[in-house]
Amino acid sequence: MGYKITLIPGDGIGPEIVREARKVLDAVGKKYGHEFDYTEILMGGCSIDAYGVPLTEEAVNTAKASDAVLLGAVGGNVGNSKWYDVAPNLRPEAGLLKIRKDLELFANIRPAYLYSELKDACPLKDEIIGDGFDMVIMRELTGGLYFGERHTESVNGVMTAVDTLTYNEEEIRRIAIKGFEIAMKRRKKLVSVDKANVLDSSRLWRKVVAEVSKDYPEVEVTNMLVDNCAMQLVMNPGQFDVILTENMFGDILSDEASMITGSIGMLSSASLGKTKLGLYEPSHGSAPDIAGKNIANPIATILSAAMMLRYSLDLDKEADAIEAAVAQVLKENYRTVDIMSEGMTQCTTTQMGDLIANHLA
Ligand code: NAI
Ligand code: MG
Repeated sequence: MGYKITLIPGDGIGPEIVREARKVLDAVGKKYGHEFDYTEILMGGCSIDAYGVPLTEEAVNTAKASDAVLLGAVGGNVGNSKWYDVAPNLRPEAGLLKIRKDLELFANIRPAYLYSELKDACPLKDEIIGDGFDMVIMRELTGGLYFGERHTESVNGVMTAVDTLTYNEEEIRRIAIKGFEIAMKRRKKLVSVDKANVLDSSRLWRKVVAEVSKDYPEVEVTNMLVDNCAMQLVMNPGQFDVILTENMFGDILSDEASMITGSIGMLSSASLGKTKLGLYEPSHGSAPDIAGKNIANPIATILSAAMMLRYSLDLDKEADAIEAAVAQVLKENYRTVDIMSEGMTQCTTTQMGDLIANHLA
């Protein structure tokens, strides 16, 4: 079957890592009989150079007309690039905010998975790591404190700042449904994280999650307070499958979870909306310090492509095959420089892509 994929290589290492992900997708397509039809669009600094804006309407329309979008990264050296001597809405990262908004991507998923081969890179003790961990954090992305009304004013001569944390039940319901759908594709365990002992918005969150859970009787649901969750992540990370939470809690918890996996070059992400169309990208940025050297780790982007197959195209076994190929290459001791350690075989960006693609052949 044929699928329309929009590719956004972007800036810095973006084109190098997207090229390897495409190589791996082509290998999967060949093996399982799928046709991936790619259209490349410009976003970020490269679009500024070509069109004067970080993302054109035409590019957005191309993305909207596709089945899924795979992004490398955008942006340059912030302290030392002509792209930043302009208003914020004309800078490279504005392209990213625009595409998330235009595609209405309200759910951000970040997996935190520990490869047994990379245990040394995990800062936790062996007895805590145990058999490892494999979780995804599902963070609400377009509501809550970051989008609530805010102002700063002088109240009786004392400067006072106000931020408001607002959620309505529709916003909670749509992210909860995404969370349960993802739990159904995994180990069917969902922990909903809130601060219901203090916040009204959390009490509403809990109520709506309980309602949605009735449509997913196979999923085991528990509630956890956010402060406890922060503690549990470093005490017993193996207990988690899907963590579902609001915007700010998810921002903080996903950074905490990513740190216990080792390298940023391994971490994928997905942003999903109401439809199947999602945006998939590595968690890292454009790494201008190593761009053009063919040393960047392409695995985060390759794993993002696997998420794209699973969540936008419903190609579960193809996604599993990519993940297995990545694990196999690590087992064979191949490492890019960011995850290199003694006794391993160092390889380039291109070689890593070739090795993973060859495992799929
Ligand atoms: P960064 O993630 O690009 O780099 C941080 C450090 O990690 C650097 O030392 C880099 O060399 C290393 N690194 C990142 N990805 C790697 C990979 N795949 N393999 C090996 N090493 C890797 O973050 P930084 O330096 O703060 O930002 C650089 C640019 O990226 C900025 O313009 C920033 O705005 C942009 N950015 C873009 C994002 C996106 O497009 N979604 C997300 C984060 C940052
Ligand atoms: Mg963050």
